[in-house]
Amino acid sequence: MSKSKVSIVGAGGNVGSIVAYSIAMQGLAHEVVLVDRDIPRAKGKALDMNQAAAALRTHSIVKAAESYDDVADSSVVVITAGFPRKEGMSRDDLLMKNAEIIREIIANVKAVAPDAILIIVTNPLDTMTYLAIKESGFDPRRVIGMAGILDGARMTHFIHEKLGYGAGQIRATVIGGHGDYMVPLIRYSTVAGIPLTDLLSYDDIADIVERTKHGGAEIVKLLGTSAYFAPGKAAAIMVEAILKDSKKIYPCATLLNGEYGYKDVVNGVPVMLGSNGVEKIIEVSLNEQEKAQFKKSVESVQELINVLKQKEFIKDK
Ligand code: NAI
Ligand code: 2OP
Repeated sequence: MSKSKVSIVGAGGNVGSIVAYSIAMQGLAHEVVLVDRDIPRAKGKALDMNQAAAALRTHSIVKAAESYDDVADSSVVVITAGFPRKEGMSRDDLLMKNAEIIREIIANVKAVAPDAILIIVTNPLDTMTYLAIKESGFDPRRVIGMAGILDGARMTHFIHEKLGYGAGQIRATVIGGHGDYMVPLIRYSTVAGIPLTDLLSYDDIADIVERTKHGGAEIVKLLGTSAYFAPGKAAAIMVEAILKDSKKIYPCATLLNGEYGYKDVVNGVPVMLGSNGVEKIIEVSLNEQEKAQFKKSVESVQELINVLKQKEFIKDK
């Protein structure tokens, strides 16, 4: 087991506790630190997870932070703190409330773990990732947003539901921002290497695309709060790729610097994850329709970034 330390800020909540639980149960890190402004809740979760680790006989140690000093020397810090979406609320409604939270957390993390890689989960995801990059001043390759793995997993599940077969053999890719304009890439989705278009009708594929785009809202409607098992697992998958330096390729939210024709904006694209964070941005060739969809997605993120700039949350250099 690696001697690395992973801290999760917001770990008293739904998504953060699943991230922590996944990491601790897999024994991915030596120490998992739970940070939450509700310290008794973080302590309760830490006790429960330590007891699960003991039952599994792993050597993972889960610790509730008393202060940010406990975050010092973390290799990776996952930030899930913030308000979740309630029914009828868009991800974008969360903008100002969560921007305040991200700003406060980044200042604290930066002071004690200046070399950490940050994984942002808080919504609206792409804009919060951009804010975290600007607030931290870290190399943008070390500040990464989680969404594409989740959105791709949702599409994978919906394809399986339509087909009734192919579990474990479906690969679906979703790029773009984590919002209504995300871009499920049908041409790059396969079942055992067979193109999706050879297996399903146009109407079935259109249903899958729509359901994927609204996959988060579907769960909010059923649970009264947003999803946490798949989002938590998706963030833990990113932590694993970084700690193991696996160089695996996943769609993640990253700062574009000319890739796909855009600069100084965050959007979801396939990246290679390793011990340095985003080690490579992969430029997938897009047809005219996909390019137009991606443009819309970038523009919708840019609009929110502009709101933060107008309110002087982010200062243009
Ligand atoms: P939750 O309400 O269950 O947990 C949030 C936790 O953050 C709470 O325990 C709260 O005490 C803590 N917190 C709030 N402000 C804090 C601060 N300043 N410092 C430390 N802790 C603080 O919410 P949940 O369901 O875990 O969602 C968390 C965030 O993740 C939301 O913004 C949600 O929209 C987002 N999300 C993003 C997804 C994605 O794909 N990127 C998927 C699912 C959720
Ligand atoms: C989700 O997609 C709400 O972003 C959250 O489940």
